[in-house]
Amino acid sequence: MSTAAILTAAGSGSRLGHLLPKALVPLAGVPLVVHAARRLVGSGAVDLLVVTAPADSVADFQAVLDGAQLGIPVSLVVGGASRQASVAAALAQLPPEISVVLVHDAARALAPSSLIARVEAAVRSGLRAVVPGARVTDTIIEVAPAGGGALDGRPLAGSVLEVVDNPDRDALRIVQTPQGFDRALLVRAHAAGAHRADDETRAATDDASLVAALGEAVHVVTGDPDAAKITTSRDLRLAEIVLADARA
Ligand code: C5P
Repeated sequence: MSTAAILTAAGSGSRLGHLLPKALVPLAGVPLVVHAARRLVGSGAVDLLVVTAPADSVADFQAVLDGAQLGIPVSLVVGGASRQASVAAALAQLPPEISVVLVHDAARALAPSSLIARVEAAVRSGLRAVVPGARVTDTIIEVAPAGGGALDGRPLAGSVLEVVDNPDRDALRIVQTPQGFDRALLVRAHAAGAHRADDETRAATDDASLVAALGEAVHVVTGDPDAAKITTSRDLRLAEIVLADARA
């Protein structure tokens, strides 16, 4: 049984305030995509790595990944209009011997090898769709647009929302990556959701939700705070602290 990791890295760096594609933004001098790839290899669970890259940066990604000398086969695939489309493009390139697929965001550059190994082992144990889930520390509310909200006859600044649900915090989890799947199930889920893939406003933001839409079970293993997504420049500064602590 062979395992491939699809590392999604075809997003832009705009929210990080960078001109570089986000996955090439350096963290302690090393591009995010290399941090993520090293941890995937370090798990000992990955036989093949497929990285999705923006169409105009494939050569830059190739150079960075070659330089990282990862020690397993690495291929690059041009990403699509959405994360979902990028994963579908990578899935279509997998060789026949792959039976387990991990899908991981380069933006979760510090997801530890232990987490990656835990997800992969859960899939190999027979669970066909597995996600890491981290507990939430905040109280989470579900909201909907609310009418009204005026002071002295003028509408309040900003949108006013209304609380429509107060879910029990103990029953909530933050969904992280890597997410692990039986290959055939993931292929079926992407085929069923393909009509949404090219519209970023409708595309799935993760792969497990496509599996759930088929009515198939998705299992949750314990997540890791270090697998948090690096989206803003503040996240990047926090990730530098996490990395320095891990090295201390
Ligand atoms: O935009 P978001 O932060 O949700 O992206 C999650 C991951 O998906 C990132 O690692 C990003 O590089 C990747 N992505 C992709 N193809 C796209 C959009 C995002 O591979 N079209």
